[in-house]
Amino acid sequence: MNQTILLLSGPNLNLLGDREPEVYGTETLDDHVATATAAAQRHNLVIEHHQSNDEATIIDLIHQARNRCAAIIINPGAFTHYAWAIHDALAAFDGPVVELHLSNPNAREPWRHISVISPVATGTIVGFGGHGYELAVRAVTRLLA
Ligand code: DQA
Repeated sequence: MNQTILLLSGPNLNLLGDREPEVYGTETLDDHVATATAAAQRHNLVIEHHQSNDEATIIDLIHQARNRCAAIIINPGAFTHYAWAIHDALAAFDGPVVELHLSNPNAREPWRHISVISPVATGTIVGFGGHGYELAVRAVTRLLA
């Protein structure tokens, strides 16, 4: 059976394409999911995507991935910077975790320089826009090989 990668998108990412295009680009979230899905298919992996503006929903999705999904790719949006409960949920997940951001938060406002997700991520991909989705899947592929 093909392994499943859980792709999680946090708050406001449903507005991609419309939201601050000068920062996040003009591609929609559906475009990014399509990029990740195509990359995964090339390696016989399946992408399961969920977007939520609600922290509790994201935590529940991470719990449900335990012993079911091989890896998690997560763009936690602004939850990145303060959501310790997502940190703890990811710490309880056994497989690789890739933290992904379209922009480079380290080159933006100081409050974005802190990530509470990075300490529990296997690795982080930032600043490459939509291409980051392909890079993240490629990273997971290597980690699962
Ligand atoms: C983001 C960066 C976060 O700081 C911001 O709150 C987002 C998007 C990114 O993909 O660049 O919502 O995660």
